[in-house]
Amino acid sequence: MTSPLRRAYEENSVLITVGSGGVGKTTVAATLALRAAMEGTASLVCTIDPAKRLANALGLEALGNQVTRIGDPVFARAGLAPRAPMDAMMLDMKRTWDEVIERRAPPDKREKILNNRFYQSLSTALAGSQEYVAMEKLCELRATSSAGLIVLDTPPTAHALDFLDAPNRILDFLDNESAKWLLTPALAAGKFGLKLFNLGGSYVAKTIARFTGTETLQALADFMLHMSGMNEGFRERAHQTRALLEAQSTSFVLVTGPMPDRLDEAVYFHTLLQQNKLRVAAVVVNRVHAPVADSLWAEVARLPPSLQPAFEKTLKENEHLARQDGRGIARLAEACAPTPLVLVPRFEADVHDLASLFETSRYLWGDARLEAAVVAR
Ligand SMILES: Nc1ncnc2c1ncn2[C@@H]1O[C@H](COP(=O)(O)OP(=O)(O)O)[C@@H](O)[C@H]1O
Ligand SMILES: [Mg+2]
Repeated sequence: MTSPLRRAYEENSVLITVGSGGVGKTTVAATLALRAAMEGTASLVCTIDPAKRLANALGLEALGNQVTRIGDPVFARAGLAPRAPMDAMMLDMKRTWDEVIERRAPPDKREKILNNRFYQSLSTALAGSQEYVAMEKLCELRATSSAGLIVLDTPPTAHALDFLDAPNRILDFLDNESAKWLLTPALAAGKFGLKLFNLGGSYVAKTIARFTGTETLQALADFMLHMSGMNEGFRERAHQTRALLEAQSTSFVLVTGPMPDRLDEAVYFHTLLQQNKLRVAAVVVNRVHAPVADSLWAEVARLPPSLQPAFEKTLKENEHLARQDGRGIARLAEACAPTPLVLVPRFEADVHDLASLFETSRYLWGDARLEAAVVAR
């Protein structure tokens, strides 16, 4: 049987790894792109906040927001010889926002926006703004890159699917009726505080409420003023993004860990993706404890009796963790059916170099298989 991720590689030109923070999204994204190149498809991975050592392994030291070709010597050192080139980049949020403004703002507004204090804190000020900019970049990359497969990593989202909502939120923010109050001359002149305005409980109100002090308000009012008129561009892009996400050739790879707290999030995430009619190629359950092999028990039985208890204790602990994971995996498989699950073991060391990425890819591709502990249900 073809592994679901191998099939996803064959059928898609965009794969997006999603899931909660720390589960292995960046690792899986880099692994998929590496394997695609090994198999003969030029690939590009756009990572977000990769671990420093992984960034180094991909040759991304100081090249924020630049697409970088991974050189043959780098692969050779890892004992790999890909059949197609692999590109990598590290998404720089601030740089990408600047590019959006440079592309979209009228020339006389550009500098004013770029120097605006509210704008400069935009990525932290506006919820969903990181997600928005990741989607912007994806659209741009898909339009300009010749890579057969682009793999997009996503930011550690506080709320599931923030990135789907992000373009709409930005639009909502720019469009919002109540935000227009900010453009009133009185407020722009800094004469009144925000309390005068009834902004209700809208998203824009919540964002604005984080800002106090006339100076920041002034900056926000200026920002809104400069941005007004650019909404059409944003709206068009929001449609393009949505179309790309829904395209036949785009699939999501949901990454999770086997621990109970992760599972609930993963099931929720999966439900949302399906409700949004987005294709989920597979759920990758990462860092699974493998069941203890019979041969290991046999080995311990052959040890001197004085050593046996300590080793048995370790094996029992491992067995316990493997069973716990097995129970979670069974529950997840049922909740996400018919989406297939792909299991990746917990490795002893972090996955921070090309060789270990390739080792990981063997599980994603189905060359190696991890059987979950069989549990009575
Ligand atoms: N199967 C695994 N076994 C061991 N370590 C792993 C495994 N998968 C990921 N890691 C490590 O876990 C850390 C978090 O992974 P990362 O891909 O950065 O997560 P995320 O992008 O979801 O925040 C990294 O240091 C990575 O090398
Ligand atoms: Mg990450």
